[in-house]
Amino acid sequence: MERKEFLNKISGGLAFTCVACMMAACSKDDSTGSGNNTGGNTGGNTGGGTGSILLTINLATQLLAVNDFVSDKGIIIVRKAAGNVVSSFAAFVNACPHQGVAVTFRKSSNDFYCSAHGSTFSITGAVVVSPATSGLSARTVEISGTTLNVK
Ligand code: FES
Repeated sequence: MERKEFLNKISGGLAFTCVACMMAACSKDDSTGSGNNTGGNTGGNTGGGTGSILLTINLATQLLAVNDFVSDKGIIIVRKAAGNVVSSFAAFVNACPHQGVAVTFRKSSNDFYCSAHGSTFSITGAVVVSPATSGLSARTVEISGTTLNVK
């Protein structure tokens, strides 16, 4: 008797699991259709929860002063102003749009410089000196407490 009860409980549990799996599979199929792009973009722009984190900064120990910067994992981020708010930071992919060489931040002139061919970019990422014809690719900054994430 105990074994029969046990088997009944297990088979009931499996059936429940299968139904749950099927429901999950159906919802995944729905979200990978045309709705996925819209949901992902909306979430990334408004909530910020869906974009992948490219770089994490501890604001208790990094980027403490204006013009401090970190260049890591293909991202370059600069503190533009005091305060741990999003508008105090500028984050870009550090690849020069000309031919992809890594740019560096120059504190003395408050700009980004590519040593390969001399392209220069303002703190907003805009081209100041060619040969690059387009600006740096900006990334999204999110702050929670002293944690800054670049997405
Ligand atoms: S790769 Fe940066 S200026 Fe050419």
